[in-house]
Amino acid sequence: MKIITKEILADCQGTRVVKLTVYAPDIAAKARAGQFAMLMVKEEGERVPLTIVEADPKKGAITLILQEIGLTTKLLGQMGPQDSLYSIVGPLGHPTHIEKYGQLILVGGGVGIAEIYPVAMALKIAGNQVTAIIGARTKQLLILEQQLKETCDECIVMTDDGSYGRKGFVTEALKALLDTARYDLVYAVGPVPMMRAVSGVAKTAGVRALVSLNAIMVDGTGMCGCCRVTVGKETKFSCVDGPEFDAALVDWQELSNRNSIYTTHEKHICRLKEQGAGQ
Ligand code: NAD
Ligand code: FES
Repeated sequence: MKIITKEILADCQGTRVVKLTVYAPDIAAKARAGQFAMLMVKEEGERVPLTIVEADPKKGAITLILQEIGLTTKLLGQMGPQDSLYSIVGPLGHPTHIEKYGQLILVGGGVGIAEIYPVAMALKIAGNQVTAIIGARTKQLLILEQQLKETCDECIVMTDDGSYGRKGFVTEALKALLDTARYDLVYAVGPVPMMRAVSGVAKTAGVRALVSLNAIMVDGTGMCGCCRVTVGKETKFSCVDGPEFDAALVDWQELSNRNSIYTTHEKHICRLKEQGAGQ
């Protein structure tokens, strides 16, 4: 599982977003929009789930986009062409249900923009009218703008600081669109507070919203129970029942609490590694 190419898509405000293409022919042959791969950098390391952004069966390559947040994604970001991953398993999760819905809005926040791109391509091929709303904290953190502009009928850009596009959160653009026209579906990927807010805006407008959840995963195959989320009062596993769910049914507070379980520990480990590297 060799890395073929590496590109730094964004590096700003302590956030680095890296794009890797990886030789994984079996995954490339089967991957569909909305699915993810589970990879390990080293034998003793953890597994991390990453969305398959593009798959090229002819070259046997898949594209992954990651934000360096914890130890494993930081290690991954340090790897380069010709380096080999310890393992990669996929495609995992249900593919996005693609049909001709009519008029849709795709909302991508931060690195979540990478996940709406393959969905946008599949929905366009199915004959839908697709508007993308993409948002980042600042201009330098915005990714895949050109690709989404080429794929979608309309692409609205928002930045928190107003450095590019319109100033404000993606939810402001969403509300403005839903106030003026009728849409059949909203699909959102990004940080939990964003998806929760999108869910609220869509609910108020009476439009169904789907979200792709980033619950913490261990095995990615339904065996450990780590990625459980409550959806419509039922326990679901994000990896095998999702990762997409009806936004109105998700217990957002529980997901938020579970996702922050390891934050302190992770920061501590990263600090120790950085200190070790500096000696
Ligand atoms: P970010 O914090 O930079 O936010 C990106 C955009 O989301 C903002 O520019 C804004 O438009 C919108 N947003 C953020 N908070 C909002 C709120 N409260 N209300 C309305 N809109 C809001 O995002 P980031 O740094 O790229 O991602 C941070 C987190 O997102 C990470 O913890 C990562 O794990 C998670 N994430 C989740 C998924 C997923 O599968 N759902 C995908 C990628 C990243
Ligand atoms: Fe183990 Fe989903 S990651 S059950």
